Amino acid sequence: MSDNSRKISLALKQFGVKFDSFRVETFHSGHINSTHKVDIRYRGKSDSFVLQRINTYVFPDPVGIMANIDKVTGHIRSKLIAEGKDPAGKVLEFLKRPDGTNYYFEDRESFWRVYRYVPETVTYDQAEDPVVLQNAGRAFGLFQKQLCDFPMDQLKDTMPNFHNTPVRMQNFFEAFSEDPVGRAAEVRKEFEILKENEALWSQLEKGRAEGKIPLRVTHNDTKYNNILIHEKTGEAVCVIDLDTVTPGLCAYDFGDAIRFSANRCAEDEPDTEKVSLDLELYEAFASGFIPVCSEFCTKAELESLALGAVTMTFELVARFLEDYVRGDKYFKIHHSEHNLERGRSQLALALDMLKKLDRMEEINLKYRA
Ligand SMILES: Nc1ncnc2c1ncn2[C@@H]1O[C@H](COP(=O)(O)OP(=O)(O)O)[C@@H](O)[C@H]1O
Ligand SMILES: [Mg+2]
Repeated sequence: MSDNSRKISLALKQFGVKFDSFRVETFHSGHINSTHKVDIRYRGKSDSFVLQRINTYVFPDPVGIMANIDKVTGHIRSKLIAEGKDPAGKVLEFLKRPDGTNYYFEDRESFWRVYRYVPETVTYDQAEDPVVLQNAGRAFGLFQKQLCDFPMDQLKDTMPNFHNTPVRMQNFFEAFSEDPVGRAAEVRKEFEILKENEALWSQLEKGRAEGKIPLRVTHNDTKYNNILIHEKTGEAVCVIDLDTVTPGLCAYDFGDAIRFSANRCAEDEPDTEKVSLDLELYEAFASGFIPVCSEFCTKAELESLALGAVTMTFELVARFLEDYVRGDKYFKIHHSEHNLERGRSQLALALDMLKKLDRMEEINLKYRA
């Protein structure tokens, strides 16, 4: 048995999963987690689970995260049941250990969790079909709607300032001045552009601090590949990757989804000439998300959504470039300039969004109730 299989076997047992044999398929691993699909056979029957091993370097409060996930998935599950729907596959279902915990620490640096695999679904890294993207928009909107009456005081802010763009900018600016690995000179131009746009990227946070934009339960990582899509119908089945669920702004979720999905290029496209905001894809997502959010959002929130897209994109520029300047400590990289390329690519996208901001606002207005 390989080392990995041994660890998986141990993790399954911790969660009371009985098996005669199992087969592991490792999914494409993301920046932070490693994720495996595990098919088990037990007394002639099959079942499938997702096992994830999480690095606590990135998530310093794993217990808080898992408690948030338990509460949030429980809230959505109860709602679905109250509406007469079967929650199976519509909300992630984490397995619990005999002591009630939904996690298992392998050592101080990593922990495991196990949840049910949702069959017949796929995820996409790149949005192509506007109808599927509209479905994804509706599902992310619904996720917020299902949680709009969640008691916020029960949700731990496990990642303070996660989408606080001015704080992210400050972190990058500090790294730039410290220049710990001698890379700052390469990002001087980008540093100056970010500085010039301060009035814009600080606006959302100002609205929040002044109480003009309310806090909600938000997903905070609404990438297109964080939604399971039915492989045949293209329906958005289930929102996944719930580690970042914390109090946040509706505009964070809208904005980050647009940043990721309404760009025909990958997040790290090295040819910045190719990068642009695709208004057709933008409208597809907006036409799914905004009508659902119009049911519970304030006017100020709905007016902040397009700005959210530009803000989240600027924020990612700062995060990628900070990591580059600090010597690639956070994001997994595939080559030495990967974070630099990602930062530049996202900057090209942010600047293109700025040019299209009026058009984005017009589109949003069309879908508000
Ligand atoms: N419950 C599930 N059912 C089916 N596939 C899943 C499920 N959870 C995750 N996946 C697959 O695993 C991939 C990675 O999972 P995710 O939770 O997004 O982790 P990360 O992005 O941090 O690697 C997803 O994009 C999806 O393809
Ligand atoms: Mg993911």
